[in-house]
Amino acid sequence: MCGIVGYIGESQAAPILLDGLSKLEYRGYDSAGIAIYDGEKIEMQKVMGRLKVLEEQTHGGETMPGTLGIGHTRWATHGCPSDTNAHPHFNKEHTIVVVHNGIIENYGKLKQKLVKKGYQFLSETDTEVLVHLLTEYYEGDPIAAIERVMRRVEGSYALGIMFLDHPHHIYAARKDSPLIVGRSSMGNLIASDVPAVLKYTRSVYYMENEEIACLSRENIRFYNIDGDELEKEASTIEWDIDAAEKGGYEHFMLKEIYEQPKAVRDTLSPRLKDTDVVIDELGMSDEEIREIKKITIVACGSAYHAGMTGKYVLEGMARIPVEVDLASEFRYRNPIYEDGTLAVIISQSGETADSLAALREAKKHGSRVLGIVNVVGSSIAREADNVMYTWAGPEISVATTKAYSAQIAALYLLALKFAKVRAAITKEEFMNLKRDLEQLPEQIETLLGMKEKIQRFANRYLAANHMFFIGRGVDYAIALEGSLKLKEISYVHSEAYAAGELKHGTISLIEDGTLVVAVATQEQLYPKTISNIVEVKTRGAFVMAVTNFGHKEIEKTADYVIYIPKTSSYFTNSLAIIPLQLFGYYVSLGKGLDVDKPRNLAKSVTVE
Ligand code: AGP
Repeated sequence: MCGIVGYIGESQAAPILLDGLSKLEYRGYDSAGIAIYDGEKIEMQKVMGRLKVLEEQTHGGETMPGTLGIGHTRWATHGCPSDTNAHPHFNKEHTIVVVHNGIIENYGKLKQKLVKKGYQFLSETDTEVLVHLLTEYYEGDPIAAIERVMRRVEGSYALGIMFLDHPHHIYAARKDSPLIVGRSSMGNLIASDVPAVLKYTRSVYYMENEEIACLSRENIRFYNIDGDELEKEASTIEWDIDAAEKGGYEHFMLKEIYEQPKAVRDTLSPRLKDTDVVIDELGMSDEEIREIKKITIVACGSAYHAGMTGKYVLEGMARIPVEVDLASEFRYRNPIYEDGTLAVIISQSGETADSLAALREAKKHGSRVLGIVNVVGSSIAREADNVMYTWAGPEISVATTKAYSAQIAALYLLALKFAKVRAAITKEEFMNLKRDLEQLPEQIETLLGMKEKIQRFANRYLAANHMFFIGRGVDYAIALEGSLKLKEISYVHSEAYAAGELKHGTISLIEDGTLVVAVATQEQLYPKTISNIVEVKTRGAFVMAVTNFGHKEIEKTADYVIYIPKTSSYFTNSLAIIPLQLFGYYVSLGKGLDVDKPRNLAKSVTVE
């Protein structure tokens, strides 16, 4: 998604904006621009392409002197990537300039009205409507003009705004797109996300929906849409700068794959006690847990795949009916809400538009909503009734790994807690499962040691066009995530299939040399999956199997076998996914692709 940075202080603004935008590159973008007040007028430079083009054009910002400005990296939604469509956007008189992240859903109607009033549009963007509306409503009071615009527009926005005749202030407003305000000794900042300001401050304010911020060099004021001044508490960011940098790894993705033992440990440990699972943030008494009749898990992408694992584990362990829904489907399918439903919204960023909309739908119909979220203070975290954070730390690579692993760890905890409270498992079973959970981080560490082995195997498949991932039960959920990892960063088409489903059509696609990754970690389903491996082998497939230590006989059937350490069948996803993440990473690396910023993708999809 788009990235926004703004600065007002005593230092030159342009270098700070360019540096901040570089920390937001992970959000995906296709153009960039900055606007700086130089003491007389507002200067602007914007270009299609990577940030470094803008850095070169402005000599690192030196050609744009001034101590306040706003900057933007654009991920195109309305209007193709181009210099003209890049942000910032001026009004005709160059007295107001705007950067925007989000979608103005009623921009067409507003644009018509503004054109009729004589406003000239230079770009194809929805954003330009905002700067002309501000011009229309501005009568000398920026806050009043911003309020009026906020009442007229529908959709989502995070805004950075400058007014020429208010050259000692920067303004910001947000609805449904994230925006933070940073207070530092060298000036005050706005940004779409924490990494952009971390170099300057750890003290940030998370803007809420329909809030306005007014930053001067000395202070920061917040207002609601009615113009009432608000008191807000600052949050302190605990991340260290390294955590948001690559830490010596070639890519953020590899760094984050290797951070998984810590991410899982940090998510599990604070909640695993000697003889209990303590999840105070659930905000539910044992009685309320016993009253849950159904769980609806709603998410997108990998978070959805985590939810699929959650279904098997929660139903298997706690015997609670679980439905898993794609958020983009859930929000429009008019689902049937039943009393006693707990809605669980899983999201790394906490800003995914479809998941946020699903949360609101569920709340509107009376479901209690639990968020399982990685980004502290994000929209989903704040709008859920309760939030269970995954302590994976900042995840920069577009392809999620450690946050995904932390999500399934959180779901294990939920299942274990619910199973214990609802007496669905014995004390002995509880202690055995708790022991298995406690061993996961170390077992993940072991699997990371096979990096070279996976890299060698991956290099044999750089030219592959199609691959299949198959599995049954939890193994099917693992196959879904393994397939997505490969697709999204190596651009190789692959499909994940419930292993028993192949024979109902897709097996016709298997031909000589087709790679089939068979996940066979579910002991009770193991013989069935072996039969499916034989089915594809007889049709010429090359089979890489992922299974538990001890199943040596599988080597008679599969061509290449990866063994994972022994753990409960419920928890094998945390282990089997490691070689599949590494496989996708090394195919992408071997193809020379941009592993951390794959084409067409963004880290947080804050638009529909
Ligand atoms: C996963 O590798 C993808 N980047 C994508 O599927 C992601 O999981 C999905 O967009 C959901 O994002 P969220 O967890 O931030 O809501």
